[in-house]
Amino acid sequence: MDARPLYIPVVLGTARKGRMSAHVARLLTTEISKQAAVQTDLIDICNLPLPTNDAGEGIKDSGFSSKMDRADGLVIVAPEYNHGYSGLLKHVLDSCLKEYIHKAVGIVGVSAGPFGGSRVVENLLPVMRELGLVTIFWDVNFSAVQNCFNPGGELLDSAYLRRVDKFLKELIWMSRTLRYGRENVAS
Ligand SMILES: Cc1cc2nc3c(=O)[nH]c(=O)nc-3n(C[C@H](O)[C@H](O)[C@H](O)COP(=O)(O)O)c2cc1C
Repeated sequence: MDARPLYIPVVLGTARKGRMSAHVARLLTTEISKQAAVQTDLIDICNLPLPTNDAGEGIKDSGFSSKMDRADGLVIVAPEYNHGYSGLLKHVLDSCLKEYIHKAVGIVGVSAGPFGGSRVVENLLPVMRELGLVTIFWDVNFSAVQNCFNPGGELLDSAYLRRVDKFLKELIWMSRTLRYGRENVAS
C-alpha cells in the first residue's frame, strides 16, 4: 500500500456575496482532513486573480495550476444557478487542462430548491469529461441549503455526514487507483 498522502482540494464554485456554498465547502474540507493520509485545501475561486477579458489556458494562475497539478482528486462544490453552474467556476476550470488528466472528481450540488443541485451536477458531468477528469458515481446534494446550517455555519442535520463519508470513501478509492494508474500503467 502506497503510504504517500493523497491531495484532494475542495473548490468553492461561486464568488456570490452571502453564498451558502461556503458552509458546504468548509464542511467538506473539515471532513476530508479527518480522513487518514489525505491532505486538502479549500480553494475559493473568488481569490483567484483571473482576468475576464480572455479565457482558457492563456490566463492560467500559477497557484491554482500547481494545486491542480499536485491534486490526486478534486471536490467541486457547485451551487445551482438557473439549473447550471456559475460562470466564474467554468472560467476558473477552463484555465487548466493537462493538470486534470486521469484524476478523480466528486461533485457536491447545492441549491435553495428541493433537488439538491442535481441539475447543476448533471450539467457539470460533460464538462468534467472534456477536462479529462474522471467522475465518481456518488454525489452529495444539499437541498434547501438555507435550512442546513445555522448562521455560524454549523451543520444542523447530521444525516449529511453519512452521505459525505460514503462520497469521500469512493473519491479516495478512485484517487488512489488513478494515481497508481498514472504512475504505473502506460497510456
Ligand atoms: C442566479 C441564481 C440562480 C439560481 N437558480 C437556482 C435554481 O435554478 N434552482 C435552485 O434550486 N436554486 C437556485 N438559486 C438559488 C441558489 O441555489 C441558492 O442561492 C443556494 O444557496 C446556493 O447558492 P449560493 O452558494 O450562491 O448561496 C439561484 C441563485 C442565483 C443567485
